[in-house]
Amino acid sequence: MLYLKPEFVTSILLSYNDTMLKGKNILIGITGGIAAYKICTLIRLYKKSGANVRVVVTPNALNFVTKLTLQSLSQNEVFSDCFEINDYKPEHIALTESDIFIIAPASANTIGKLANGICDNLLLSTACAFKKPILIVPAMNTNMWENPFVQDNLEKLKNCGFHILEPDSGFLACGTNGTGRMREPDEIYDKSVEILTKNNFLSGKKILITAGGTKEKIDPVRYITNASSGKMGIALARNAQQMGAEVTLVSTFNADGDFENIVTPTAQEMETTVKSKLNEVDCVIMAAAVSDFRVKEYSSQKIKKTSSDTMTLELVKNPDILKEISDLKTNTKIIGFCAESENLIENAKEKIKAKGCDFLIANDISRKDIGFNSDENEVYILDKALNIKKLDKDTKNNIAKRILEEIFE
Ligand code: C5P
Repeated sequence: MLYLKPEFVTSILLSYNDTMLKGKNILIGITGGIAAYKICTLIRLYKKSGANVRVVVTPNALNFVTKLTLQSLSQNEVFSDCFEINDYKPEHIALTESDIFIIAPASANTIGKLANGICDNLLLSTACAFKKPILIVPAMNTNMWENPFVQDNLEKLKNCGFHILEPDSGFLACGTNGTGRMREPDEIYDKSVEILTKNNFLSGKKILITAGGTKEKIDPVRYITNASSGKMGIALARNAQQMGAEVTLVSTFNADGDFENIVTPTAQEMETTVKSKLNEVDCVIMAAAVSDFRVKEYSSQKIKKTSSDTMTLELVKNPDILKEISDLKTNTKIIGFCAESENLIENAKEKIKAKGCDFLIANDISRKDIGFNSDENEVYILDKALNIKKLDKDTKNNIAKRILEEIFE
């Protein structure tokens, strides 16, 4: 007889009342581990909450649990690596039309392949094409769990925005005690509800984000720009979109993503676009590095080299978009960025007062390991009352998530 922990039973009962999952499309990926049998209970939990469950398995998973069981519980066809094409739609793409992908149990093998972009089965191909949240629930023997390659692969996945529900320690199927036991179905269920709730917390919001260094044209082939990569702005746009917001990215370059992208290479073009959209959005995040100056006179012909050893370009001030839109005092929440190479906090405090925005995200560009062009960042969030919150060094993806959580708390 299957023994259920009392807290597990409570959670199942609570789950029945959970309306959050009603109508949600849950995709469960099962890999070849003994914990696969527990996924039958997980499927029941989702079904009882009114969710639609689809299951994709690796070939090895079917050694532990049968297709017929999974099919009967999920009341859906179970997908595996067969090439009996019933539909014109490629299966791994059709499966991505789900709200969350839960890979449980996730074997060391599947974790390693995922972290390295390998797609040699349907489950992996689906994960590779999946744009919504993916929850990895590892289960393996303690020695495998502690293997540095496995830990590196998990770290890599974490940094790319995958959610990891780390294993428990306890009695393992291989007869030993240690870390590696898959978390119980109720814990997986609760974690998925938490992710879906968070994931949706910007639903109904319209957010405009600027990104990249502006390119102030000198002549048809030359321009003045700066070292901004635009990575922070893109991370904000992707995360805001994944959290349910309707996003417009106004960037100095073309960017791929499930959001509207308006390309505005110069500060003046950016100003026109941001101002024209200001009243349509709930929030503007000015992550772009806008050039403070532009050349006074653009030369429509390429400027020729002369015999002179020097050349003078006269510059004029660009509009300060952040200050101008803050001065308009609309209901739109306005967030600025500040990149400082010294006295970060003092300068940031002065800047938020001068600009009048609601929040200012300050980062130190004197450090080589964070900020401009780097994949990581460490920032301070200042609000109008000069409260300061530090977000410790992390990937720009995770920093973006936390900035959005802080400003829309
Ligand atoms: O004054 P500073 O350039 O340090 O301010 C940075 C912040 O102001 C960023 O959010 C940037 O997008 C914005 N900014 C702007 N217009 C400018 C210069 C900066 O909106 N001309």
